Amino acid sequence: MSLAAVILAAGKGTRMKSDLPKVMHKVCGRPMIEYVLDAVRGAGAKEIVVVAGFGGDLVARTVQDRAKVVFQHQQLGTAHALLQAAPLLASFPGTILVVCGDTPLVSAGTLARLVAAHTSAGARATVLTAYLENPTGYGRVIRDGEGRVRKIVEQRDAEPGELAVKEINTGIYCFSAPGLFEALSAIKRENAQGEYYLTDIIGHYVDQGQPVAALVVEDAREVEGINDRRQLARVESYLRRQVVEELMLSGVTIMDPASTFIDRDVKIGRDTVIYPFTIIEGDTMIGERCAIGPGSRLVNVRAGNGVVVEHSVIQESKIGDNCIIGPFAYIRPGCVLAPDVKIGDFVELKKTVVGRGSKIPHLSYVGDATVGSRVNIGAGTITCNYDGENKWPTIIGDGAFIGSNTNLVAPVEVGERAFIGAGSTITRNVPPGALGIERGRQRIIEDWHRKKSKKEPCEGT
Ligand code: UD1
Ligand code: CA
Repeated sequence: MSLAAVILAAGKGTRMKSDLPKVMHKVCGRPMIEYVLDAVRGAGAKEIVVVAGFGGDLVARTVQDRAKVVFQHQQLGTAHALLQAAPLLASFPGTILVVCGDTPLVSAGTLARLVAAHTSAGARATVLTAYLENPTGYGRVIRDGEGRVRKIVEQRDAEPGELAVKEINTGIYCFSAPGLFEALSAIKRENAQGEYYLTDIIGHYVDQGQPVAALVVEDAREVEGINDRRQLARVESYLRRQVVEELMLSGVTIMDPASTFIDRDVKIGRDTVIYPFTIIEGDTMIGERCAIGPGSRLVNVRAGNGVVVEHSVIQESKIGDNCIIGPFAYIRPGCVLAPDVKIGDFVELKKTVVGRGSKIPHLSYVGDATVGSRVNIGAGTITCNYDGENKWPTIIGDGAFIGSNTNLVAPVEVGERAFIGAGSTITRNVPPGALGIERGRQRIIEDWHRKKSKKEPCEGT
């Protein structure tokens, strides 16, 4: 049996009060529509159509490799939205799964069970429903005395008796494709919102004597729709808990799941320990036996095995095996650290490559630099990489020793095994093995304190 899926994602999401289309809001680091895409694909949908509208170009760019996109130029309701897929699916012979783009927790398994229930019931339409303690805001599923689904009424159109119903429409359905689009064209917009409601197709089929079925979802949390930012936060915290639980089951120690925030696509190796107050984002990959946190943020980082990061921020960078970062380091985008590198407290790195075993232990800024292996960079070293107009590179050869409080005025190169005397401002290249020093000679004036206090003339003033 062939399965197609349509994801309704054209709505503005008025209740989000946002300039971003609702389905592009992120849940654990991914736009919510991507979860829905994965779920329908996992349920076996070969052909996937996304109905985009408000912010449609952004939605289309996000899904373009995984789905076909049709546009609903005016958001006239969910039935009208589904109708926009007609040019692509009108002659499709199989089953069409329809999912709203704002239900990111729905699982592929649940969707597959819905498709199976639809097929075995031989229904024209099957709706996925859920029982909620507080059904406010959702469409209610109205059944007859024998428990057969009669219709769905929206909250705003429901009578008091209907409002008391706790079985809700999840906004997820299966339809037999033949005849679907004709039936959709017959739907009217005579309701409180003046919209074409997809939910009306259920009553329409029932009135025509067509078979309609329903499946109750096992876990109602899966079908929570996101309409405002309170629901966004609720879904986010539920999914975040799932993410950390999966990681714990795969062998990662997470000391305090409640204060650990890890995006969906993050990968972490076994026996790594994540300390509290840590945020790991994007497509970060962390190896085995690492210790990350407390109080750290990693965004799109590749970290090897045995890496230690404490109270630090790392963005878009690669960290080799057994590197030690922090406390209080800031590694900005474009850094590549070879194994065994130490980046210590109050060190900022930007677009810098550091070779194996090198150390930048304290209080330094190193930007646009290439640092060789076994280099020691003393406290307070600054690469002066910006002249007000351009950024310039600094190159430091293997085994070089940069004394504390050095300014390296780029572009500049320090050769292999060269030394820089502490406190120097280096403006010219230092050849391999040489000492570069730039410092006023120290003078000693004896008895300075006594002479000063007696206002005697002092030598040198
Ligand atoms: C909808 C259902 C409601 C169900 C709830 C489940 C209708 C009329 N109501 O209500 O019964 O309980 O979902 O979460 O269907 N959309 C479009 N074009 C439009 C309007 C909406 O593409 O013109 C898309 C939205 O982007 C969204 C989805 O359809 O992804 C649902 O729209 P929304 O406005 O959130 O419907 P609800 O009021 O939640
Ligand atoms: Ca909704």
